[in-house]
Amino acid sequence: MQNKQLNISYQVYQSKDELPAEWKSLLQKAIDATGRAYAPYSNFRVGAAILLDNGEVVCGSNQENAAYPSGLCAERSACYYAGATYPGARMLAIAVAACQDDRLTETPTYPCGACRQALVEYEELGGAPMTVIVGSAGRVEVFASVKDLLPFYFDNLEG
Ligand code: THU
Repeated sequence: MQNKQLNISYQVYQSKDELPAEWKSLLQKAIDATGRAYAPYSNFRVGAAILLDNGEVVCGSNQENAAYPSGLCAERSACYYAGATYPGARMLAIAVAACQDDRLTETPTYPCGACRQALVEYEELGGAPMTVIVGSAGRVEVFASVKDLLPFYFDNLEG
């Protein structure tokens, strides 16, 4: 028997104004995308923005449905849109933000488990880490890879 430990390091910025310009602009696009969410059932509006290696930024927002929970999260709407529109483009970074009652949340919103699994596969496809920037009205956290948020991800594509 062996005891093992995981150590995840990430960056914490006190506000989005401290971020490097490229990440600040990506996070602002995620914040803007919260305004395009369709979330009448949860009233929790999430926005995501993905920077691609072709320079494009693709945004997504959560889209709900009366047959809740058959809607889709912002992060998956963004990465599926990116994959469907620019197949083969590498996803370099994703920024996420959320609004509740039309105000940015006070603490960061992390991608849910299903979104982490979807994102990690695009990260693997791209062959390089995808930075994850999770924002809020206050602090912003930056993870160097989706794998930092889902270290034991499912990978059925062996070989
Ligand atoms: N949601 C996202 O869009 N992203 C997340 O990472 C967490 C949850 C959405 C799903 C649903 O429309 C609403 O937020 C409440 O769960």
